[in-house]
Amino acid sequence: MYTLINREISMSTSSIKLDYGNLLNILSEEEIFSIQPAINECHNKLYNRTGSGSDYLGWVTLPKKIREDEISEIQSAANFIRNEAEALIVIGIGGSYLGAKAVIEALSHSFYNSFSENLQVFFAGHHLDSRYHTHLFQFLENKKFAIIVISKSGTTTEPAIAFRFLKNLLEKKIGKEKSKNYIFTVTDKDKGALKKLSILEGYKSFVIPDDVGGRYSVFTPVGLLPIAAAGIDITEFINGAIFSQNRYEMPELENNSAYFYAACRNLLYRKNKKIEILINYSPALQYVSEWWRQLFGESEGKDHKGIFPASCSFTTDLHSMGQWIQNGERTIFETILEIEKLSEILTIEEDNGNLDNLNFLVDKDLGYINGQAMRATAMAHLEGGVPNMKIKIPELNAFHIGGLLYFFEKACGLSGYLLGVNPFNQPGVEDYKRNMFALLKKPGFEKEREELLSKMPKPDEEKIV
Ligand code: PA5
Repeated sequence: MYTLINREISMSTSSIKLDYGNLLNILSEEEIFSIQPAINECHNKLYNRTGSGSDYLGWVTLPKKIREDEISEIQSAANFIRNEAEALIVIGIGGSYLGAKAVIEALSHSFYNSFSENLQVFFAGHHLDSRYHTHLFQFLENKKFAIIVISKSGTTTEPAIAFRFLKNLLEKKIGKEKSKNYIFTVTDKDKGALKKLSILEGYKSFVIPDDVGGRYSVFTPVGLLPIAAAGIDITEFINGAIFSQNRYEMPELENNSAYFYAACRNLLYRKNKKIEILINYSPALQYVSEWWRQLFGESEGKDHKGIFPASCSFTTDLHSMGQWIQNGERTIFETILEIEKLSEILTIEEDNGNLDNLNFLVDKDLGYINGQAMRATAMAHLEGGVPNMKIKIPELNAFHIGGLLYFFEKACGLSGYLLGVNPFNQPGVEDYKRNMFALLKKPGFEKEREELLSKMPKPDEEKIV
């Protein structure tokens, strides 16, 4: 029988901790530790590069390999953008934008784009909506803006379209020659249309390592350049990842909370808990959830297997999804993100009339009230049949967000191997692209077009009520 002190796995108070106490009515510690041999096997696959997708394991040891000169080069491009532009447009989709968006949203002022002295940061090319893009281009008419365009393959349609529009807009505003200084690309070292374009136009270009896939690329220039441009300390961000890299280097579950998390979710899945909801209690973490959904969804959802990763923001969603979670189908579990130390204190003041009946909260901090809401909800959900675990983040800062993202990457790589899938490919993503190219008459997709059209209902055959 293994017992862990306080059911929290941590060597240091400053690391990410996992509280799994609210799983123990469905998973015993014996069960969890019984899969240590499988964990060891998967750990060896990650470090010895013997598992499937092993060409994409560069992220495992990446944080410690980032060189000072690489950081300086990124920082100097970021400084140029911060000094010379009023707005920055980050173009990318999937793993080529979610990491940067998650970190910027988590660590910037909640209204960072509304302060005139700040560099405003916007994203484009992560969907094909003409309304959003039209509004963005209208807004940029009177702005001095820079572009960071990110695509590992350099051929993805959504960002390529957005880049064509924005490049034209910039060139019309300040001329082709000057525009070159305001365009930065992040792509493969020698393949793809974006690389070719960067060379021909002379854009400053940053490289995504061959052995790091999109959703594991937040510690490459994919994440680091936009994050630095948003004014976030990337050295601290990387230091947090290095801390986690060291922390989660050994396979033993009692010392590795990332693997412990992976083990628990794998065992829950085997017990028919098919949906994981990542819960935050701060809107700052909403895009961390989006990034996490992509990381786990694209890594594990294959071969007709995989936990469906969902997310909720509480207490907001307790008034929309709370009912389903409390009483709906019992196939879910929750992973709660808790920020342990809050930097903002907001105390409830006394009101003589007490017409809102809130005087029982006088002198209580809003963070404390949010914390009690978290504890109350976790218990209610547990009693309603929803096991939950908590990931404790010591503080919302660059160091701990770096640590948290690496924690999830490590858990995800191992978790994919535990599930028996290749966590580093995304073959299913190609299916929609093939159909889209066929319908759009992209050269080379003639046969696919013919096949697709023969299967699709003709406009007059559509079943419409
Ligand atoms: O994780 C992944 O590999 C994907 O989500 C990609 O990041 C996404 O499809 C964008 O690809 P690219 O960077 O090649 O434009």
